[in-house]
Amino acid sequence: MKIPEKSTPEDVLWHRLESYRCGDLDWRSGRAFGYVYDAGQRAAQVAKQAYVEFLAENALDPTTFPSVARLENEVVAMVACHLEAGPDVVGNFTSGGTESIMLAVKAARDCLRARRPEIREPEMVLPVTAHAAFHKAGHYLDVKPIVVRVDETSFAADVAAVRQAITPNTIMLVGSAPSYAHGVVDPIAELGALARERELWLHVDACIGGFLLLYFRRLGASVPDFDLRVPGVSSLSVDLHKYAYAAKGASVILYASRELRRHQIFSCARWTGYSVVNTTVQSTKSAGPIAGA
Ligand SMILES: Cc1ncc(COP(=O)(O)O)c(C=O)c1O
Repeated sequence: MKIPEKSTPEDVLWHRLESYRCGDLDWRSGRAFGYVYDAGQRAAQVAKQAYVEFLAENALDPTTFPSVARLENEVVAMVACHLEAGPDVVGNFTSGGTESIMLAVKAARDCLRARRPEIREPEMVLPVTAHAAFHKAGHYLDVKPIVVRVDETSFAADVAAVRQAITPNTIMLVGSAPSYAHGVVDPIAELGALARERELWLHVDACIGGFLLLYFRRLGASVPDFDLRVPGVSSLSVDLHKYAYAAKGASVILYASRELRRHQIFSCARWTGYSVVNTTVQSTKSAGPIAGA
């Protein structure tokens, strides 16, 4: 298909765009599980307007656009506050659950690379219910997924199976809160204890539940501990474009400490040999914003 030589009249363009949607799922009638999180027209209108207001600004350079850095800091701080995280917790805004998970796997890999350089072929233990994003991250980052069974009745992670799967190459354990396909919260406290015992990174995937679960608890539901207050949890992902009803793509990755988040940061200096004298540049993913501070 060629780029049109002549411009398209606006009304034709809008009509064409609308016509492209005729085969899509009718999510407005409530027929979508996942994909679209519908908070109703009023909230959608506000999200749309805010999105359009910042269409041009670029998070690449927060010294040029301090407004965007401020937004990131405020959003991360609000998410941390919602999850009642302690004062050491820091984080970043990302484009979605998959990016948050990729960054967590990258941070875990580089952290364990520094702590245990003898590990040449790192592995992460995944309950079979863990999201596909971990497999994608493993593929990109050369961390081998070791998939283990879950409890046959509850579909929750089987901690004994996770323990059995740990080898001298293991760097990371994963739990979901809850898992995408079954909506089951894994026993995060037990996984945290195991991670501490074996000195491993534990990531909690709360992409879908990070916002909801605490509201459920406030409504009286019994929700097991799943967040960064659980000893042994190193990082946690929580999506804003799911049950926080933000426009896509919006997610937050939180770390238990600045020291752990350090391993998420990509620095060209590390790979090119340039030495960085002043690392106070406030870039979203390159030099460590004050997000969550
Ligand atoms: C539990 C869980 N983790 C991760 C993801 C990946 O998130 P995203 O689609 O925003 O990349 C999803 C998406 O549905 C999810 O439900």
